[in-house]
Amino acid sequence: MKQPSTIRPATGKLGILLPGLGAVATTTITGVLLARRGLGRPVGSLTQMGTIRLGKRTDERTPAIRELIPLQKLEDIAFGAWDIFPDDAAAVADHAEVLEKKHIDAVREELSQIRPMKGAFNPEYVKRLHGTHIKTAATKADLVEQLRDDVRTFKKESGVDRMVAVWCGSTEIYIPPGEVHQSVKAFEAGLLANAKEITNCQLYAWACVLEGVPFANGAPNFATDFPAIWELARERRIPIAGKDFKTGQTLMKTLLAPGFKARMLGLRGWYSTNILGNRDGEVLDDPDSFRTKEVSKLGVLDTILQPEINKELYGDFYHKVRIDYYPPRGDAKEGWDNIDLFGWLGYPMQMKINFLCRDSILAAPIVLDLALFMDLAQRADFHGIQEWLSFYFKSPMAAPKLYPEHDLFIQLMKLKNTLRWMVGEETITHLGHEYYD
Ligand SMILES: NC(=O)c1ccc[n+]([C@@H]2O[C@H](COP(=O)([O-])OP(=O)(O)OC[C@H]3O[C@@H](n4cnc5c(N)ncnc54)[C@H](O)[C@@H]3O)[C@@H](O)[C@H]2O)c1
Repeated sequence: MKQPSTIRPATGKLGILLPGLGAVATTTITGVLLARRGLGRPVGSLTQMGTIRLGKRTDERTPAIRELIPLQKLEDIAFGAWDIFPDDAAAVADHAEVLEKKHIDAVREELSQIRPMKGAFNPEYVKRLHGTHIKTAATKADLVEQLRDDVRTFKKESGVDRMVAVWCGSTEIYIPPGEVHQSVKAFEAGLLANAKEITNCQLYAWACVLEGVPFANGAPNFATDFPAIWELARERRIPIAGKDFKTGQTLMKTLLAPGFKARMLGLRGWYSTNILGNRDGEVLDDPDSFRTKEVSKLGVLDTILQPEINKELYGDFYHKVRIDYYPPRGDAKEGWDNIDLFGWLGYPMQMKINFLCRDSILAAPIVLDLALFMDLAQRADFHGIQEWLSFYFKSPMAAPKLYPEHDLFIQLMKLKNTLRWMVGEETITHLGHEYYD
């Protein structure tokens, strides 16, 4: 990544394309529409509410991030979406029951104009869904062409100047990258040959990158996490990011585990369980889709605690994650964590966390921030994996030789230092020796 000499301004309109018009997508759209009319506050969003310290602590320069960096204004955003069901965004928001009717009603007209384009969908990869609004094609290569056509049509019809995409579609079954994912050539041949290993979300990511549209992946799927798309993104100079929005229980884990490690407290076990009753919960009730989520959730503790370096404290802990589909709760998830710790002389302690959170309320500001930061990355000529956006992901992507950084506070420092560096401000190390000279 080269320091940008200039960042192109955020002029004109930005199109945010959302493959998957479900609970998260409609909560995001409704929130943006409300916020731009002054009818709601974008709480949880760094781009809208975050500040950034510049220079020395004595300088007292702490502007809002959006004042320092040229970000797209909420007023100039248009939304597009794909889904495998034909319902418009208002109907989906009603059905999702995340937001109160008064919030949906306030922007109902605009919401009802957002109708999803037909999805590229093979049910083999999401077994619990039986979509009706789907494209037909002889090959996966044809599906990519149809998706590319959708992107171009959306651009023309909505009058946007630039676009970004954030995958908000369902979690697919666990298919780690294989031979077909290793190079652009192999992947293109796989598309023509209908390779089984190429899943639905990869078709969208491929089509978007080919159309010059940055793509961030909010699910634990391998949409942007395979060598062929890294190669394509590098060649076409397009930013990509992923994977799996960091909300709820994993957010708490990446807050607490760095704290335990900072204080050299040992860990014997961490048991996490959730109940969740929305469509995402229903999809995750399928063991093959759950496996994808499980892998994404389990990696967190190992990379934060580094058991290979800290054998005595972290060499032998038991980590278990469960998600149970429980319809009465809808989107209002409840998570329980039991943490078995040990301290001085090995004495055991326990910590219990009961988090009554709202999944889509936590995810919506992430979708917005990712869209605006991916557009910024594009205008700054950043391309390939955007590791500085790890802050937003459960299972962040990093360069192939690197282990990912999971600690939320390191991720935030990296994000803010990237913003400082982008605009030629000094990065902050927190060394602070100059105050004592
Ligand atoms: N809400 C959170 O806190 C959170 C956190 C991390 C990850 N996620 C992930 O975000 C995604 C969205 O979550 P949600 O709660 O909105 O789920 P949801 O089930 O409400 O929405 C997903 C939508 O994707 C659609 N879809 C599935 N396959 C598609 C395809 N091939 N093309 C087009 N549309 C397709 C489904 O029909 C559905 O409408 C899920 O993968 C979820 O695991 C959510």
